[in-house]
Amino acid sequence: MSFPKDFLWGGATAANQVEGGYDADGRGLSVMDISTAGSLHARRQVTYAFPDGTTGKAASVPEGAHGAILPGEYYPNHVGSDFYHHYKEDIALFAEMGFKLFRMSISWSRIFPKGDEDQPNQDGLDFYHNVFAELHKYGIEPLVTISHYETPLYLEEHYNGWNNRKMINFYVHYAETLFKEFKGEVTYWLTFNEINTTIMFLDLFATASDADYNKAYQQLHYQYVASAKAVQAAHAIDPNNQVGCMICGITTYPLTPDPKDILKNRYTWETNIFYSGDVQCKGEYPSFAKRLWREHNVDLDITDDDLATLKAGTVDIYTFSYYMSSAVTTHDTGDQVGGNFSIGAKNPYLEYSQWEWADDPMGLKYYLELIYDRYHLPVMVVENGLGAIDKLEADGSVHDPYRIDYMQKHIAAMEQAIENGVDLHGYTSWGCIDLVSAGTGQMSKRYGFIYVDRDDEGNGSLKRYRKDSFNWYKQVIASNGADLHYTD
Ligand code: BG6
Repeated sequence: MSFPKDFLWGGATAANQVEGGYDADGRGLSVMDISTAGSLHARRQVTYAFPDGTTGKAASVPEGAHGAILPGEYYPNHVGSDFYHHYKEDIALFAEMGFKLFRMSISWSRIFPKGDEDQPNQDGLDFYHNVFAELHKYGIEPLVTISHYETPLYLEEHYNGWNNRKMINFYVHYAETLFKEFKGEVTYWLTFNEINTTIMFLDLFATASDADYNKAYQQLHYQYVASAKAVQAAHAIDPNNQVGCMICGITTYPLTPDPKDILKNRYTWETNIFYSGDVQCKGEYPSFAKRLWREHNVDLDITDDDLATLKAGTVDIYTFSYYMSSAVTTHDTGDQVGGNFSIGAKNPYLEYSQWEWADDPMGLKYYLELIYDRYHLPVMVVENGLGAIDKLEADGSVHDPYRIDYMQKHIAAMEQAIENGVDLHGYTSWGCIDLVSAGTGQMSKRYGFIYVDRDDEGNGSLKRYRKDSFNWYKQVIASNGADLHYTD
């Protein structure tokens, strides 16, 4: 048996995608609350209003306007899967599957509605006390992401978000509040979800300018400093706390043996994966940072104090999401595919999902072995899964053999990585209960073991149903990963 006996099996969610209750009990708006739904081929848009009352919808809020919720528009994150009102039922279902770990995030604007207050919103804190109590009732440990794609909208609009150094203090105050308040209830923390996507994201826009890169690298620097300060605070408040980085993990391969492709592939790893990982795990910028900054004439506000903070605030665990791999090339292949906040060449050796994400379990093994060898830190896979269209049958069953097949192969790949020496501590599959897709805002892109009756227009009873994968995952956990087999 390759999985260690205390291996942490579980599932993962994010507040903005699952919770709903967007205006309940004093919660403020977050940047996700003005986001409408999209699809595979239509990007999500945000809604806004100008001071003169003119309103509109675009990729981002235009200069001079502010984010606004408009009548007649549909905002999928406002209700999500309504975990806010169903958490007891949902946690009981997680417990039935045998979860040891539940990854969730805290909604920042539920705790600090605007983000710059001194005092937190007690109702928001109470909600999470209740959730943690419910998890502990079943012996499930929470793994809490402090910031998962949902900065309070007020901070974005009044302080210009992470372009402003002041955000470091707001974030650290928020994080310290959580560490003090939930001491003894939570010991596993992640500072920022997929911190590296700030840079990766720019590849999606062929038009990104040097100024865009400068902005992105500066935002990241402030987030690294904030993360390092939070790590120090977490350890000071409770030495049992274990804090991780969380990287959007995409294994990339060169599409051809052309040396130019080989080099481009290495540079892609450096930019997208190692840059953030090195700062958060090693406490300093890697040597190749100079190359990255020079390529885009980047000139950053970095102080000596910041560098000392980074050194003193390295993480305890390396965590990452893994869904797919990608291929890079310097040649014009014309055949491009999307992915998790990414775009790349189509790999002829792989199959692709309904949302064009490559199915590549070996890429997970490759990533685990490479990363463990680089950092020698305990590792956790905190997101993995298949987004697919499911059909709810008249008898309440959902047959999802494609999801089971995907997960079987990825769990087997983790097992091989463990056999090859990787110190893997846990696995939380993404969207263990159906939730709103971050990329497209669709509900029909489902990842869960638990089906939630809600569609892309917001219709449905929100009733929960066990899918076939529910019983399969229960068996996987009960056998500690030894029995991956499935019969329908
Ligand atoms: C990761 C995010 O990018 O991938 C999640 O951390 C997200 O928030 C997940 O939901 C899957 O992506 P998508 O676009 O299918 O929801």
